[in-house]
Amino acid sequence: MKRNYSIAIDGPAASGKSTAAKIVAKKLSFLYVDTGAMYRAFTLFLIENGKNPCSEEEALSLLPLFEMKEDKEGHVYLKGRDVTSRVRENDVSNEVSYACAYKAVREKMVELQRKMAEDESVVMDGRDIGTVVLPHADLKIYQIASVEARAQRRYLENQKKGIPGTLEEIAKDIERRDYIDSHREHSPLRMAEDAIVLDTSNMTIEEEVEEILSLFSKKAGVKWNDTEQSL
Ligand code: DC
Repeated sequence: MKRNYSIAIDGPAASGKSTAAKIVAKKLSFLYVDTGAMYRAFTLFLIENGKNPCSEEEALSLLPLFEMKEDKEGHVYLKGRDVTSRVRENDVSNEVSYACAYKAVREKMVELQRKMAEDESVVMDGRDIGTVVLPHADLKIYQIASVEARAQRRYLENQKKGIPGTLEEIAKDIERRDYIDSHREHSPLRMAEDAIVLDTSNMTIEEEVEEILSLFSKKAGVKWNDTEQSL
């Protein structure tokens, strides 16, 4: 029987995880799961229902009602509505670090994420995938990049999407989120002991993808052939 594979990609905000993860998943015909988008969707759900994400009591009051779907391409749906772009906007980015820090929120998301990886091979990106969600992943990548490189990438991405903000503002926001994500009590951002560090500050997306695919082939002991497009 063909077994399921999993690739975990963790790392700080805007380190280019999702762009590379999406391409790797497509090339391997694996399911791509953007776990950050799930926390973002929950944050949007709170904002739209007039709840303050900084208040644990308010946030948890809506948790039982939260339902979302993510498709193979990483599009996110909140009660059937496509919110993929909406969850990238500044109001959500500013509050998501608070909403994702509550224990009950994390437990619910981790359960959903593990379910997704049960029946299919996955490439999952986030902060706690290698440490908490998929501790037995075939390959764990810890992706890093300098604050300058990350701010520059996010700035260009935001410009394309029409999201306002200067390079300095984006760099500050990235540093702020790095701090909150790595200092929170529950499942803080940290590297799994068996993860491989990938510094992408001076790498193109193509080089990143190539490196992840080659590491996966070696680690999982499978040969991957670009012409086959699938394992
Ligand atoms: O990767 P991102 O910027 O879309 O993530 C949004 C927020 O969600 C970020 O503040 C960290 C948090 N997050 C998390 O705590 N655990 C994950 N597995 C993924 C994201």
